[in-house]
Amino acid sequence: MKKFVQFALLPLMVTASLAAVAAPAAKPEKLIQWRQSAYRVAEWNVARLKAALEGQYDKEEAVAAANALEGIAGSGIESLFVPGTEQGKGWHETSAKPEAFKDTKRFAELSLSFSKEAAELAKLVPAADQSAVKAQFGKVTRTCKTCHDAFKGKD
Ligand code: HEC
Repeated sequence: MKKFVQFALLPLMVTASLAAVAAPAAKPEKLIQWRQSAYRVAEWNVARLKAALEGQYDKEEAVAAANALEGIAGSGIESLFVPGTEQGKGWHETSAKPEAFKDTKRFAELSLSFSKEAAELAKLVPAADQSAVKAQFGKVTRTCKTCHDAFKGKD
C-alpha cells in the first residue's frame, strides 16, 4: 500500500517541483514587480531583525522576522528573472544587471545560499542566544551583499 501511495504521488511531486522553478506566465511588468516586492519585504524583515538584536534582545520579534525571511528566501525569487525582463519597469525601472540573465548558474547558487542561511537563522532564533543569532544574521546579510555586488546596479 505504501509503495502504491508513493507511486501515485510521484507525478504530483514532480509537478510541484516544476512549479517551483517556473514563474507563472505573466507580463514582464508583473514579474519585475513581484521580484522587487519580494526583495523589499526581505529588506523590511532584515530591518526588524536588526532592531530586535540591538540593545535589549526582542526574541519574539526576531522569531517573526526570521520566519518571514526564511519564507521569502526560499520562495524562488530567482525564477522571476526570465528572458524579456532584462529591462523594463516593475514598480520602477529594474536595477538588475544584465549579468543576472547571463550567469544564471551563479545567480541560482547565490539565491540558494540566501535561502540556506535564512533557514538556518529561523531554526536558530527560538533556541539560541543573542550573540549566536547575531552571527547567523550577519551570514544572511552577507548573502544579500554578495549578490547585489555581482547582479544589482543602482536603484
Ligand atoms: C541572488 C541575488 C540576490 C540576493 C540573495 C538578494 N538580492 Fe536584493 N536584489 C537582487 C536583484 C537582482 C535586485 C534588482 C531587482 C529588480 O529591480 O528587478 C534586487 C533588489 C533589491 C531591492 C530593491 C527592490 C526594488 O524595489 O527595486 C532591495 C531593497 C533588496 N534587493 C534587498 C535585499 C536584501 C535585504 C537581501 C538579503 C536579505 C537581498 N536583497 C538578497 C538580487 C539579490
